Amino acid sequence: MPSDLLFVGNWKMQLPYTRSIAYIDTNQDNLRTLAQNNAIVLCPSFDALANIGMLLKDTNIALGAQDVSAHASGAYTGQVSATSLKEVGCDYCIVGHSERRQYNGETSKQVAQKIAQLAAKNITPIICIGETQAHRQQGITTDILQEQLNPVIDMIKTTPIEHLCIAYEPIWAIGTGNVASNDEIAQALGWIRQYLSQAASIAKIRLLYGGSVNPDNARTLVSIEGLGGFLVGGASTDFQKFEKIVLLDNK
Ligand code: PGA
Repeated sequence: MPSDLLFVGNWKMQLPYTRSIAYIDTNQDNLRTLAQNNAIVLCPSFDALANIGMLLKDTNIALGAQDVSAHASGAYTGQVSATSLKEVGCDYCIVGHSERRQYNGETSKQVAQKIAQLAAKNITPIICIGETQAHRQQGITTDILQEQLNPVIDMIKTTPIEHLCIAYEPIWAIGTGNVASNDEIAQALGWIRQYLSQAASIAKIRLLYGGSVNPDNARTLVSIEGLGGFLVGGASTDFQKFEKIVLLDNK
């Protein structure tokens, strides 16, 4: 069983500011204990980042954002720069989440530009890719992953980048309770690893799975060859559930 898994909690827009702060306050001690032997990243929404960054300052828990601007600075109303994210303590940032691609029209080219911004500030990007149910039924899953990865590969070929995470998140598995099977995930991760090997040293790349991960299925998923951790949405907003996932405790 891999011992160096990374557990990323993507709170999305589920916890408003006060509940985000309360999550950290209430679970401070348990979070510290959990993070002694496990690599944990929490990704609150933008408004809570600075305060949570301060609360997590002397802990092993890393802070992540859910998005970043594709631009360094300037007249971009409503956007947040990689510089700001770094200043408030972010070491990770999710980019290209399917919800951003779907609701904000984010393209893979923009995702690549965001990765460049993050790389310049030494923030590890967590790049989300994944196919819809229809793509899978049509047998074009790897074509879709390829389309999503190509601009990213072009970017990382020319951008010095320390570390990078790719989260395989089949869209049909996100928030649905329909977790992908170990075989489906293993196949996708194997393909991604192979495809990326043309662009970057594989040692720099951690592969995550996301999509309906919960305390009941984490123990089964963890045996997947090449898995480097989980991107957890819904279950991460409940500390007790998230803790069980991290501890691989399904009782
Ligand atoms: P979920 O979300 O765990 O609620 O399915 C995962 C994600 O979207 O990152």
